[in-house]
Amino acid sequence: MNSIMQLTLLLFLLVGACRADYFFGDLKDWFDKITAPNEYCNREWITLDGLEADLGRNLIGQHIASDVILNAMTGFKNNDNPTKPLVLSFHGSSGTGKSLASQLIVKNIFKKGMDSRFVHFFDSVINFPHASQVETYKSQLQHWIRGNVTNCAHSMFIFDQMDKMHPAIIDGIKPFMDYQYKLDGVSYQKAIFIFLGNAGGEIIRESTLVSWKAGKKREELKLEDVKTALSSVVFDFWSSAFWMSINVVDFFIPFLPLERQHIVQCIMVEMVAMGLQPDHNKVCEMADKIVVYIPDDERRISVSGCKRVASRLRHFMQ
Ligand SMILES: Nc1ncnc2c1ncn2[C@@H]1O[C@H](COP(=O)(O)OP(=O)(O)OP(=O)(O)O)[C@@H](O)[C@H]1O
Ligand SMILES: [Mg+2]
Repeated sequence: MNSIMQLTLLLFLLVGACRADYFFGDLKDWFDKITAPNEYCNREWITLDGLEADLGRNLIGQHIASDVILNAMTGFKNNDNPTKPLVLSFHGSSGTGKSLASQLIVKNIFKKGMDSRFVHFFDSVINFPHASQVETYKSQLQHWIRGNVTNCAHSMFIFDQMDKMHPAIIDGIKPFMDYQYKLDGVSYQKAIFIFLGNAGGEIIRESTLVSWKAGKKREELKLEDVKTALSSVVFDFWSSAFWMSINVVDFFIPFLPLERQHIVQCIMVEMVAMGLQPDHNKVCEMADKIVVYIPDDERRISVSGCKRVASRLRHFMQ
């Protein structure tokens, strides 16, 4: 064989090998796809596992919220015959960890986390923007909830920016959250509804400052200390929205304003995530530079919690 023929054969074999790899690669993807386990509405895919550790590790400075969430979720998941769906309402100012907490719940219940087809997320501002369309939104949402709970009784529905949701839409979903054995032949008792919003944020912040000024340690604050203050705002908000039926909500969960020590922790977490070695003094210096604190004289509470800490940190590091 002359050298040209040898080269041609070599090229042919190389291309062939690549094509085979390409072909078998595709085949493998396809095979993986059809043999990969789908997600099913059963205990193998939906259970409660690791939430306590995850909240303890990741949700900074929110001992009240962590305790209430854990008790609520554990009680609900251990009950084989709940009389109504679980309804949680998260309240607090921006950047205090409400979305984070809801993500931790999802992650520890659904094996597929936020990718689960049994978790449904809505943002009032994005999904229901036009007041003129509320009737359409309402019926679409009712249809969606009904269809998904029919498909999987353990479905979870998360509504963000709840304080901006039109009352008519809230009123439209209320029947799903009430004590009902069945509604149009569908049982909603194993579903979970979580509402997130800033309503009550100011008043939670005020009552935290009041107890701090009275010499009470943050860790000693209990749900009852915030509850009275929160109830007035929550009552105004939920009762008007729910047409005087706030009893569909099982737990009102306050998220306390974050203090400088928590911002320091958030910065540490971010730095580790960025692959940097956090130096405590430097982190404290950054906590003062990248975050605005109130009240002016005390500079104790971060106005925007840990929100935008990551982006400001990146900017600061440049
Ligand atoms: N308590 C917290 N512990 C740890 N990280 C936090 C905490 N609060 C906020 N963060 C971090 O700050 C960012 C914003 O938090 P998150 O989205 O949960 O705030 P939020 O309370 O939902 O705010 P908003 O009301 O504006 O939606 C996230 O990156 C989150 O990881
Ligand atoms: Mg949020």
